[in-house]
Amino acid sequence: MSGLKLLGISGSLRDASLNTKLVREAARVFAPATFSLGDLRLPLYDGDLENRTGIPTAVQVLADQIFAADAVVISTPEYNQSISGVLKNALDWVSRVDGNPWAGKPVALVAAAAGRAGGARAQYGLRLAMAPFRVRVAPGPEVLIAAAGQAFDADGQLVDARYQKALSELMAALKAEIG
Ligand code: FNR
Repeated sequence: MSGLKLLGISGSLRDASLNTKLVREAARVFAPATFSLGDLRLPLYDGDLENRTGIPTAVQVLADQIFAADAVVISTPEYNQSISGVLKNALDWVSRVDGNPWAGKPVALVAAAAGRAGGARAQYGLRLAMAPFRVRVAPGPEVLIAAAGQAFDADGQLVDARYQKALSELMAALKAEIG
């Protein structure tokens, strides 16, 4: 086990989420590293809630995981051609903590979707959504898993050799971003 810490963030809360599967597969390919999965079961962002009770504990936990990580993999579902509300909500909450946990953080963006484009529009939207946070986005290749319901075998590994290759290359690019 190397000393690297990898954080995975999936924009879907479903137990059987294909994006969570993709994050776990990315971690297997990235290994060795200590892997943890962020929990996006957060309250909806509400300025009144923030004023009344401050940053919710679950948000601070997620922010602390980002602070501590050497690298982060974020997988977004595509909902109506955009990122999930769950993911945007988490990004908005984390932007409210003290300090910027994302600053200079190596980040890989991936997506898994039912459609033929593999969540390309959502992933592009995620790039825009991350722009304020000054992350170091691994430059590519793009990992866009189309028809994702058929893309994984029973062990959660990608079936298609082209997807395997793209994910390996992206994880190598992510490692290269770690200073
Ligand atoms: C979808 N899905 C979808 N797929 C796609 O390729 N493009 C899209 O715009 C949408 N839009 C969309 C909206 C909503 C509200 C839902 C619930 C679903 C299908 C989506 O890709 C599929 O359900 C994925 O499996 C969702 O990701 P997880 O939950 O498996 O990670």
